[in-house]
Amino acid sequence: MAKRTLSQLDVAGKTVLVRVDFNVPIEQGVDVIDQYDQRLRATLPTIEHLLAQDCKVLLCSHLGRPAGQVHETLRLSPVGDRLAALLGRPVLSLADCVGDAVTAAVSAMTPGQVCLLENLRFHPGEESNDPGFAQQLASLADCFVMDAFAVAHRAHASTVGVPSILPAAMGLLTQREVESLGQALAAPRRPLAALMGGAKVSDKILVLENLLERLDHLFIGGGMAVTFLAAQGKPVGASPVETDRLDFARAVIARAAAAGVALHLPQDVAAASEFAPEPARVQTVSVAAVPDDWYIMDVGSATARAFSAALAACQTIIWNGPMGVFEMERFRAGTRTIAEAIAGRPGVTTVVGGGSTAEAIESLQLVDGMTHVSTGGGAALEFLEGRQLPGIAALPDA
Ligand code: 3PG
Repeated sequence: MAKRTLSQLDVAGKTVLVRVDFNVPIEQGVDVIDQYDQRLRATLPTIEHLLAQDCKVLLCSHLGRPAGQVHETLRLSPVGDRLAALLGRPVLSLADCVGDAVTAAVSAMTPGQVCLLENLRFHPGEESNDPGFAQQLASLADCFVMDAFAVAHRAHASTVGVPSILPAAMGLLTQREVESLGQALAAPRRPLAALMGGAKVSDKILVLENLLERLDHLFIGGGMAVTFLAAQGKPVGASPVETDRLDFARAVIARAAAAGVALHLPQDVAAASEFAPEPARVQTVSVAAVPDDWYIMDVGSATARAFSAALAACQTIIWNGPMGVFEMERFRAGTRTIAEAIAGRPGVTTVVGGGSTAEAIESLQLVDGMTHVSTGGGAALEFLEGRQLPGIAALPDA
């Protein structure tokens, strides 16, 4: 059942509590916040929609995992300052998210004003979904907008408690996330491909379980390909094999064959003499010839070209996980080649989400070439696993 959207919620002139996910990697430094403000930018349409309706906009978010205690380094005010620059209007960052001082500050707000509450996770009641804490938050506003898709997989006070108290709806970002990911799963234009990578098979078991039989093509790269290659009896050198997932990998190979899903595994790899950003030796080798004691770091150039060519025939592509050790500059080539091949193809739906895939696409500056790059890491993954996200389920139906 579709959930209520922002346009279906009467917000004009009201005080609106908006749950956003401003959980950004602040440890990278506030002076470079413009380099990791994607999650802030993604909420601008909802904030601007509310401002156009003369709302008092009260934003709330978590930042990091302070476990119910105040951590000076996890205060949200630098994020508020960056948001003000993006919005082109002041954002008042408050020193707490509940309590008398907050209530007074919110009462003094005027229409068109934006306030950012302090880190919700400074209070233990947020993560324990304490009803009293949810009530305190709800008492600040007339209605609630859920625009934090990236934390919708958490059943916290601000994600499931508040919408059970206030009139609520999805924000524009949440709506876009749910519709883009949902359509790729439920009504894809075919051929449908999943491009799976990232470090471990174990992170992707539930996604594979959910997607496998509905795919036309399955491409496997990244660290998880090592376990698949090992399952086929290929030499993988010193690369870590998830020995407890070998049977699962064999089952995926058999199930893909039985279901007529074309399975694409690497035929060559970039192998390195050490697992390091600048190894002494790096060589592209056939998967039949990975040297003993070497590490598989990326898909090889022939594989990247073959994957790109096969993906060119696909109409819907779900991408989850980089093709190599993307955090090391030297091993980005496979991800880059494939990302460039699928970016900006007219009429093709490319949905990117989960884990570090979005960061990889952002650092390649290819976000605009994809149909949808999810702001959700864990949340996108759980959505692709076919699980119900509590922060979405808690919202009223349309
Ligand atoms: C995320 O960054 O994935 C979300 O903000 C959720 O954060 P969490 O894993 O700390 O709950």
